[in-house]
Amino acid sequence: MKVLVTGVAGQLGHDVTELLESRGVPCRGVDLADFDLTDGAAVKAWVQDYAPDVIVHCAAYTNVDRAESEPEICAAVNGMGTMNMVRAALSVNAKMVYISTDYVFPGTGEKPWEPEDEYGPQNVYGMSKVQGENAVRSLMTRFFILRTSWVFGLNGRNFVRTMLRLGAEKPEVRVVADQIGSPTYTRDLAALIAEMIGTEKYGIYHTRNEGFVSWADFARMIMEKAGLPCRVIPVPTSEYPTAARRPLNSRLNADKLKDAGFRPLPSVEDALDRYLAELKAAGV
Ligand SMILES: NC(=O)c1ccc[n+]([C@@H]2O[C@H](COP(=O)([O-])OP(=O)(O)OC[C@H]3O[C@@H](n4cnc5c(N)ncnc54)[C@H](OP(=O)(O)O)[C@@H]3O)[C@@H](O)[C@H]2O)c1
Repeated sequence: MKVLVTGVAGQLGHDVTELLESRGVPCRGVDLADFDLTDGAAVKAWVQDYAPDVIVHCAAYTNVDRAESEPEICAAVNGMGTMNMVRAALSVNAKMVYISTDYVFPGTGEKPWEPEDEYGPQNVYGMSKVQGENAVRSLMTRFFILRTSWVFGLNGRNFVRTMLRLGAEKPEVRVVADQIGSPTYTRDLAALIAEMIGTEKYGIYHTRNEGFVSWADFARMIMEKAGLPCRVIPVPTSEYPTAARRPLNSRLNADKLKDAGFRPLPSVEDALDRYLAELKAAGV
């Protein structure tokens, strides 16, 4: 099995590539420096040259707030770019993993979203990820769509690192307490992906670390575990305006994963412990 991983310079792509390499799986991680997803000819040429059996498509336009002022670029990368990847995958008969997000849902209510629930994106980024999903679903049969949320990994910026920085600088931070979801550690998601690609259990799955928290709960957990004496003041979303509207309900129901025989990801707390140890070991 030969695997092509996009987004190797980002959080998830980095960990997927590293894990596959450590297991001796023939694998190549690529990013913008290799080719631009929006260049269909370049995508096809690259994929046909490498001829992977599996494509793990992690690359994306991920700046949710900037997307509001750059909707065309965001759609080109996440929508058309994914379509380019799908066409290229079909041309070499590769199966595909597409990483998506809870932002494809409207974020209403309190019930965890099921994989079959209807789309209702509330921002430009969410809409572009729906386009990406549709490109995969409409043309492929051998695909996994993995919707995840609140991703954190060693190779990039994320909420945990922001909290560690603020916690070291300030006596208190104000953090949104009415958006509820699950953080997801890239190493845990990478392990699931590595397992999944060896199967034919295609479909749409929800995957995140176990447990639902608010951003404020998560911030408190980070400060506590990192030993930072920074107070977390819970605030409503209305007090923390951002360019892109954020869903209040980011809860994803991950039961389908278990039903299909995959192990659920470890708890949020366990993931955070291991991530903080990873940062320490890396001298971050
Ligand atoms: N981060 C989250 O909280 C979150 C939540 C749910 C789902 N997801 C999804 O999970 C996946 C991985 O997220 P992540 O946080 O690992 O992303 P990330 O760290 O932002 O990495 C994405 C990578 O894609 C590259 N890229 C952007 N535009 C490209 C283009 N036109 N052609 C080729 N490469 C391009 C980026 O390069 P540049 O940095 O140079 O632009 C970056 O290296 C994405 O599909 C994302 O939508 C993320």
